[in-house]
Amino acid sequence: MAIRNITKDGDPILRKVCRPVTDFNERLHTILEDMAETMHKADGVGLAGPQVSFLRRVCVIDVGDEHGLIELINPEIVNKSVETQYCQEGCLSVPDRYGMTTRPMKVKVRAQDRNGEFFEVEGEGLLAQAMCHEIDHLDGKLFTDIVEEWLAPEEQKK
Ligand code: NI
Repeated sequence: MAIRNITKDGDPILRKVCRPVTDFNERLHTILEDMAETMHKADGVGLAGPQVSFLRRVCVIDVGDEHGLIELINPEIVNKSVETQYCQEGCLSVPDRYGMTTRPMKVKVRAQDRNGEFFEVEGEGLLAQAMCHEIDHLDGKLFTDIVEEWLAPEEQKK
């Protein structure tokens, strides 16, 4: 496994729409493992393909709950709650900047695992937020596009 460079806001790679994964091979597994290691090392809760210059529809998420590490390949949000949450959000590609966004309180995501098997995962609260944030990355969208209110450093909670 290896730590990969995280692309930063301003890099055009972050604005590309990623293509689906079609080959569930060793190369994909290596990238997923590197992404998880890179995310954990950077103390993040999620990381998407374009953030490591890999323009395919993959992301990893670990919000520190009972789900553990989640690998999402070709994920799609199939259901989202009407109820929303107003949450603090940040991104490893946008260092030291945090703002408030509105996200669904719950989402259901359909994705493939590293071997191409389909599965569904439901998330609430932080996990729902993280899944929305990471899937946005796969469409070239950043949370900065939807921030409603930027937070001053002293207003940020860890
Ligand atoms: Ni991000």
